[in-house]
Amino acid sequence: MPRRISLTQYLVEQQREHGHIPGQLRLLIEVVARACKRIAISVNKGALGDVLGTAGSENVQGEVQKKLDVIANEVLVEANEWGGHLAAMASEEMDSIHVVPNRYPQGEYLLLFDPLDGSSNIDVNVSIGTIFSVLRKQGHTRGVSEEDFLQPGKHQAAAGYCVYGPQTTLVLTVGSGVAMFTLDRETGSWLLTEEGVQIPEDTKEFAINMSNMRHWAPPVKRYIDECLQGKEGPRGKDFNMRWVASMVADVHRILTRGGVFMYPWDQREPDKPGKLRLMYEANPMAFLVEQAGGRATNGHERILDIVPKKLHERVSVMLGSRHEVERVTGYHADTP
Ligand code: AHG
Ligand code: MN
Ligand code: MN
Ligand code: MN
Repeated sequence: MPRRISLTQYLVEQQREHGHIPGQLRLLIEVVARACKRIAISVNKGALGDVLGTAGSENVQGEVQKKLDVIANEVLVEANEWGGHLAAMASEEMDSIHVVPNRYPQGEYLLLFDPLDGSSNIDVNVSIGTIFSVLRKQGHTRGVSEEDFLQPGKHQAAAGYCVYGPQTTLVLTVGSGVAMFTLDRETGSWLLTEEGVQIPEDTKEFAINMSNMRHWAPPVKRYIDECLQGKEGPRGKDFNMRWVASMVADVHRILTRGGVFMYPWDQREPDKPGKLRLMYEANPMAFLVEQAGGRATNGHERILDIVPKKLHERVSVMLGSRHEVERVTGYHADTP
């Protein structure tokens, strides 16, 4: 049974005993966790809180915004603006970066988030979440611009997500393994419920939107086709499939019991590298997965090595159990 310590105690330990995180970063993570608690309250109210349905607007990626996409974004911006730890924020739901207003002190960190992941599941009461990533502003130049955000994922100082599901769970890495915290609704505190999370190297479970099969590239088709052949095929074992359609929930399952998750490039839009966002979805999840012993690639290279060219960049994603991700990545190398 893991030590039942609070998120605050965990972070203080990381700061004091292990020297992993500066005080500023600790406070920043606490603010994000508090914002997630507020989002969880709105999510739980559902129809009673008038938070279901669309907001009637579109985001910069051309997606229709749900009310909760907008609410969650506002909660995160408001909570993080004034603390003095941040220089700027970037979000899936904001066209450009949000610089901390002049009336507040400017910190050295940059916060990136997908305020509400799994929007298509909000109205049907299926698990959704918030994903976040923290970078440090490089150099000592004054001011902050979009350029400051264009750092590869391996530079992340922290990353995590919160799942609003049967339980509200916060999963975090500050670069020293992965810890999971469960929200105790009676006391309002986050309690450590798992630490040193490890993803099994092998798995018999894959997650992919099979309805896109006819559009995939040959290496992805080959990999899934071999899984589907089961015991009689080259893999010699039967595979199971799961697809929640909320990346947070699918990745949470993989961190809990292993598996492989893929949202690959497909030929419908050949010039678009993938559906998922590099900075708000792929990078934070890749950091967590690697910290838990798994792998994350775009089929060709490690996600965390990709140097972004723009804020809302998209990417092909394959992540999870090490041997499976290595296998499907290897298939890409075989077919140029
Ligand atoms: P978001 O709700 O933040 O736009 O992200 C949705 C993403 C991701 O969570 C999920 O894995 C994927 O979209 C689901 O896509 P399909 O609807 O194509 O299955
Ligand atoms: Mn979206
Ligand atoms: Mn998302
Ligand atoms: Mn989203």
